[in-house]
Amino acid sequence: MSSPKLNVLVTGGAGFIGSAVCRHLVGAGYNVTNVDKLTYAGNLASLRSLENAANYRFDQADICDDASVLAIMRRDNIDVVMHLAAESHVDRSIDGPGAFIETNIVGTYRMLNAALEHWRGMDDAKREGFRFHHISTDEVFGDLPFDSGIFTEETPYAPSSPYSASKAASDHLVRAWHETYGLPVVLSNCSNNYGPFHFPEKLIPLVILNALDEKPLPVYGAGANVRDWLHVEDHARALELVAMRGTIGEGYNVGGNAERTNLSVVETICDILDSRAPRSGGRRYRDLITFVTDRPGHDRRYAIDASKIKRELGWEPVETFDTGLARTIDWYLANEWWWGPIRNQNYAGERLGKAKQA
Ligand code: NAD
Ligand code: TYD
Repeated sequence: MSSPKLNVLVTGGAGFIGSAVCRHLVGAGYNVTNVDKLTYAGNLASLRSLENAANYRFDQADICDDASVLAIMRRDNIDVVMHLAAESHVDRSIDGPGAFIETNIVGTYRMLNAALEHWRGMDDAKREGFRFHHISTDEVFGDLPFDSGIFTEETPYAPSSPYSASKAASDHLVRAWHETYGLPVVLSNCSNNYGPFHFPEKLIPLVILNALDEKPLPVYGAGANVRDWLHVEDHARALELVAMRGTIGEGYNVGGNAERTNLSVVETICDILDSRAPRSGGRRYRDLITFVTDRPGHDRRYAIDASKIKRELGWEPVETFDTGLARTIDWYLANEWWWGPIRNQNYAGERLGKAKQA
């Protein structure tokens, strides 16, 4: 894309998708400022390849601290904000919704306040080009039946979990700041991502690492729930397009056109591992699959109609689920330096989000 000299503030850039966005934007020549609080999910090791890049800098800050965020926006003359920082795991939102309300709702409100003040203080030429891109999820649309329906940009919001409800609330705030104060915003709602540097509490990395550890592979319920999977590098390319070329005030659905049941995802991982890292004695990884109590409020199916972003911005995924999953498994096999410390010190794969709230 053209105009790579823009100054971009990425929030949550030490997380899974944010670090892919930072790597992508720095590679494309943008000046990137990454603001991240470094919660359990933030990891500067994911940004090791950028440590010496002249067009990248990192600030440890909380998005709820709008004075600090505004000072950073002014210091770095920010043209575009890409707001990814969030609490992102549904199961953790069941166990402790408070942090989701604080970061996803209050934090987005504070980001909007800082961005509005920064935008109002810009000179006319800069103000014209400013964008606030809010990165959201398809989970705000809620639950689809197994056999019909697809999420378009017009699908009404109907979130089911504390996580998706907090993201829905933040989307509404972003649209309100556009309608009421004129802040130039764009939004995107994406399906489930997978790929390298994915924190191993989410299905795909959890199953890969549990399998390598010879631990049970937990499948919620009957494993019939369906997700639409997108490789994170395809998502990063989509996000650049939405941020730089999206129509102000509009939202874009992003998805991989790769619907799979959870059980088929887990079985495919097992089969790839059987060839890449065979177990001893001819045993199969599928033997580790264990059906466990379902997640409370478990959405049956998500499916994205990504025709708008294809039509208007020319985006489509380059990775198929099969090639992307094989690449991802190879990445985990080759990069224990990244996930070993997380599994040993931070999160070893125990079940989260089982308890029903009173
Ligand atoms: P992640 O949990 O891997 O990373 C979140 C990052 O935000 C971490 O680096 C964390 O330290 C940081 N953060 C959390 N609270 C913060 C705060 N108060 N201040 C500053 N930084 C804070 O999440 P992810 O999977 O990379 O998701 C990024 C964004 O994309 C989220 O907004 C999420 O809702 C959205 N999204 C995720 C998916 C997915 O499949 N993972 C799909 C669609 C949309
Ligand atoms: P997850 O990776 O947590 O993403 P999300 O909840 O945002 O879709 O879960 C993906 C699917 O996998 C979801 O339907 C829940 C299911 N799942 C399991 O079956 N076992 C697990 O251990 C985990 C973490 C998830």
